[in-house]
Amino acid sequence: MSSWYKVLNQPPKEGTMVAVEVEGLKLFVTLNGGQLYCAENRCPHEDIELTLGCLKGNRVKCSLHGYSFDLDTGDSSEDDVDHMLTYPVKQKNNEIYIEV
Ligand code: FES
Repeated sequence: MSSWYKVLNQPPKEGTMVAVEVEGLKLFVTLNGGQLYCAENRCPHEDIELTLGCLKGNRVKCSLHGYSFDLDTGDSSEDDVDHMLTYPVKQKNNEIYIEV
């Protein structure tokens, strides 16, 4: 069963990724184009934090080999690389909650 967890007291700054940890999961939250997103903070290709990479349009680009993942769907730029895991995120007043 999934629950909502408060992870931040305020939304990330536009265009930045913030690493958070909830229930032993390493995730990141980002505000991109005014929209909140949450995903696993681990590249599906090799074990590296995606927060070391950067945002490009609506994708997060990994710092190691440059593969990218859609913030909405987790869709991978490479056919042979798994999708990024994404999680529901919401803002209530100023606080940010993630459902895991
Ligand atoms: S480790 Fe992320 S693209 Fe290779």
